[in-house]
Amino acid sequence: MKIITVLQQKGGVGKTTTTVHLAAALACQHPHLRVAVADADPQGSATIWIKRGNGGTGVAVHTVAADGDGRNLRAELEAIDADVIIIDLPPALEAISLRAAIRADLLLVPTGPSVVDLSATKGAVSICKEALEYNPTKKYLLVPNRVQHNTAAGRELRGALAAWGPVSEATLTLRVAFAESAAVGLGVSQYAPESPAAQEIGLLAEEVSRILEI
Ligand SMILES: Nc1ncnc2c1ncn2[C@@H]1O[C@H](COP(=O)(O)OP(=O)(O)O)[C@@H](O)[C@H]1O
Ligand SMILES: [Mg+2]
Repeated sequence: MKIITVLQQKGGVGKTTTTVHLAAALACQHPHLRVAVADADPQGSATIWIKRGNGGTGVAVHTVAADGDGRNLRAELEAIDADVIIIDLPPALEAISLRAAIRADLLLVPTGPSVVDLSATKGAVSICKEALEYNPTKKYLLVPNRVQHNTAAGRELRGALAAWGPVSEATLTLRVAFAESAAVGLGVSQYAPESPAAQEIGLLAEEVSRILEI
């Protein structure tokens, strides 16, 4: 079982968006794999999204860390019958964030192009590094999200992020298809498979698959 944890210090940067679209893209690319989302956010946004689609994402969803700090996280993850689990975390960094980071084989830090997003990334990267101290074989990647290539901030984001840590080859652009597919309970890979948004998340799924050897 491979575990991916998606974390950030701030809400609204695209944790849930990355989690569910990536899970759905992995399910599309690897039909033989059982892909699950472990929802550790008490707001349950990923759960609501996936349940809305009635199985259309091809992804199972489980609530974890309902105790708030995830003391039983290890057992909760072991009880999930899946080949790949993606953990979606609450908006702010909490005790559960480090626990979920420690359990992960790969950590993803979605980061938007604003200055506020960049400073939040610093906190998320320090959690990644702390988790790496427990297990140096795990990896983390900063994922540029909500990028607008027609703005200076968008064009410079990749360079700015590289100062903090390794950056994914894949970039997620600000695209309505990411939000629209959430509204109907699907991943963009199912909702609009030929769209540029599906292509972008598909590239991230391929990159993640290479790293995790799945
Ligand atoms: N690449 C993107 N393109 C368009 N909308 C996005 C993108 N990433 C995130 N959003 C939107 O931004 C909002 C916050 O994203 P969300 O994934 O819920 O953030 P978080 O889970 O970090 O709080 C949502 O309305 C989502 O649809
Ligand atoms: Mg969220």
